Order: sequence, then structure tokens, then C-alpha cells
Amino acid sequence: MKIGKVYLVGAGPGDPGLLTVRGLELLRKAEVVIYDRLVNPVLLEYTAPQARCIFAGKLTGSHSLPQEEINELLISHARRGRQVIRLKGGDPFVFGRGGEEAEALREAGIPFEVVPGVSSAVAVPAYAGIPLTHRKLSSSFAVITGHEACKVEPSVDWGRLASAVDTLVVLMGLKNLPNIVAKLLAHGRSPETPVALIRWGTTDLQETVTGTLVDIVDKAAALRQPVVLVIGEVVSLRDKLQWFEERSPSTDRGGWIYADEFATYLEA
Ligand SMILES: C[S@@+](CC[C@H](N)C(=O)[O-])C[C@H]1O[C@@H](n2cnc3c(N)ncnc32)[C@H](O)[C@@H]1O
Repeated sequence: MKIGKVYLVGAGPGDPGLLTVRGLELLRKAEVVIYDRLVNPVLLEYTAPQARCIFAGKLTGSHSLPQEEINELLISHARRGRQVIRLKGGDPFVFGRGGEEAEALREAGIPFEVVPGVSSAVAVPAYAGIPLTHRKLSSSFAVITGHEACKVEPSVDWGRLASAVDTLVVLMGLKNLPNIVAKLLAHGRSPETPVALIRWGTTDLQETVTGTLVDIVDKAAALRQPVVLVIGEVVSLRDKLQWFEERSPSTDRGGWIYADEFATYLEA
């Protein structure tokens, strides 16, 4: 039998309008779609009626499908000659284990393609009116996992990041926010550094909390995941540049109209 192919496709950060044209084209033709928790399920409406859609979502600490099983699923469907889409939130190669999946496919001799997606790391700040770089305020940014912040020997070097990088974008950072803030202050970041936490960015549930390194932990106490954390002077531009809150949902095109449905699905 002819072997199939796996496409590792980025679904974007939530607003279905941020799926790429290539991603949409492949979704329409897919025979099997294996999708994650942060993928807006509205995108599945673009699949053909006979396509098989399999949820492989992950919640922090409780993986609904272990990574090895996801790899096996991809391999076994491709071995049966199918066109398989592995649909992942944001970009598949940004904290999405896309690299591990590609390695497993390569080892199994399965052909694959990667279709980059719009990562929450850039799109969510943009929807909150925060440019990650700015000629006067920031000439560098780094995207960091917040998971590492509580480890005894973390692999993230917060000291170097604090001194060398202007804007820090932290994914999966809410739980460890107090640790992250403490490390940055200990390594010399000004207590007055502006900070933003953006929840459910690019959807109509988008919610933004701003503060400084000194008060953000208290201000964010009631916030829940998923959240993008942005630290740096560029956050102050939000006062001038916020646009999403001022849009007119009835007239502006927007995938965010689906966000309520999205949240219900995730919290079920
Ligand atoms: C496992 S990482 C996956 C990142 C994804 N591959 C990307 O490129 O956006 C999941 C984290 O991304 C962030 N995230 C993804 N979508 C988000 C959204 N719409 N709003 C806020 N945070 C989001 C959160 O920090 C969440 O905990």
C-alpha cells in the first residue's frame, strides 16, 4: 500500500482567521485530523464530512493522550496510506512538541511537511496592542517557557535574559508568575518594568491585566490559563495602541465570535 503523509499544521492562536491559507487548503483535503486542546474547534468545520477528527488535547499535568500514543497514531494512519493533519495551537514548532513528532515520523520513515502557524507568542501581544519591538523601546525579544521557573536547576537562564533581552514573552507562565517576577527582580530588572498578562488572546474572551513587576502578582491573582505574559517597556504602548477592545464585533470581520463556544468546549 502507498504510504500516506503527515502535515504538522499550526492552527494559530484562537481566532480562526489566523489559520494560514496553506493550512486551510490541507484541512479541506485531510482524511485524518489529530488536534490539540488549544485548537479552535471551529476549524474542524472546514474538514470534509468523511474526515476523521481525533482529539489529542493536553491539560497541564494531565495529558489526555500520552505523546508516544500521539506519535503512534500519526504513524499508523500514515502507514495506512492516509493524509494526516496534526493540527496544533499556534505554531507547531513553538513549545508544541512538533519537533518531537517530526523526529518520530522521520525515525518511522513517514514523509511529513511542516506548515508554520501564527504563534500566540506574537499574535496575542499584537491583539493586546503590544508591539514586541519598537525602535525607541526594544530591539530584542525572547520567547520562554514558564514551566521551568520552579525547577531547582532550571534550564532557563533568567539572569542572562533579564540583562540581555528587552522584551520577555513567557508562555505557560501563570502558575510560576511569582517565581518569574522574583528571579527578574533578583537579576536587576527595575521594579517599575511594565508587565501584561493576556488571557484567551485573539478571541472574544480576550482579557488583559497590566501592572509592574512589583504589583502584577497581586493583580493577576484571579486570572486563569491560557495566558501570555509580556514583560518590558513595550507594554506601556498598550495605553496608546490597544485596538481589539475598540473593535465593533458586529461590523468587523472576526473569528472571535466563536470564542464562547471554544471556551465551553475547553472547560467541559
Ligand atoms: C503548549 S504552549 C503552545 C504554544 C503554541 N505552539 C504557540 O505557538 O502559540 C501553550 C501556551 O501558549 C499560550 N497560549 C496559546 N494560545 C493562547 C491564547 N489564545 N491566549 C493566551 N495564551 C495562549 C499559553 O501560555 C499556553 O499555556
